[in-house]
Amino acid sequence: MIFFEPHKRDRQLFPHDVFKGLVIPRPIGWVSTMSRAGELNLAPYSYFNGMSSWPQIVAFASESPKDSCSFAIETGEFTWSMATWDLREQMNLTSAGLPRGESEFAHAGLATAPSRMVKPPRVAASPAALECKVTQVLELKDIEGKATGGVVVFGQVVGIHLEERIVKDGKVDAVAMKPIARCGYHDYAVVERVFSLARPESGGSAFGGPESKQKRAGR
Ligand SMILES: Cc1cc2nc3c(=O)[nH]c(=O)nc-3n(C[C@H](O)[C@H](O)[C@H](O)COP(=O)(O)O)c2cc1C
Repeated sequence: MIFFEPHKRDRQLFPHDVFKGLVIPRPIGWVSTMSRAGELNLAPYSYFNGMSSWPQIVAFASESPKDSCSFAIETGEFTWSMATWDLREQMNLTSAGLPRGESEFAHAGLATAPSRMVKPPRVAASPAALECKVTQVLELKDIEGKATGGVVVFGQVVGIHLEERIVKDGKVDAVAMKPIARCGYHDYAVVERVFSLARPESGGSAFGGPESKQKRAGR
């Protein structure tokens, strides 16, 4: 086994940091936001994930204060659109560092679709989207307590959009959506095959604790 402390990486052996190639595959938070002045923004964030299934909370992390997190903090709203195999090129184009106020939707040739509960629109061509309201903002610190400059924005899901074609037998079909995920370097993964594993008997529901929590809450 190779072992090293992150700051002592052998740069001959590993010219590129390995961390981003290890915590994989990372779902892509394709986040749209709108400033108070109405400027529209869309960008991919792979430091993104679901954080809680009830209430439904997602979070994305910005390595420095970028427009998506500034706008989300300013207005308390954002949307997430699923990045898919069909939209991979457009997703990548939306990571361009455009001047503030220039919309990445237009830059990538993407149409907007209106949201219902929040102002920022979602990506019309994406098969699934979440409307979110900001619940918490966390400034990241390192082990010495020093601010890293990174910011994590948490948001509660207040609306869900699904294209009919991805809904099968009361479930969303991962293979029909073909989500893409970030691996290391310039690599990505695409979901083309899934497998199932039943959870060991725990007395709870087959979908785990949060599902039971929802049921108890009458939802
Ligand atoms: C697939 C992908 C994932 C990315 N993930 C992140 C991320 O997690 N955090 C981050 O700060 N930047 C990330 N970036 C870079 C941002 O998308 C890029 O800096 C973008 O210009 C930020 O836009 P904004 O300033 O409009 O928010 C990623 C880029 C790509 C292509």
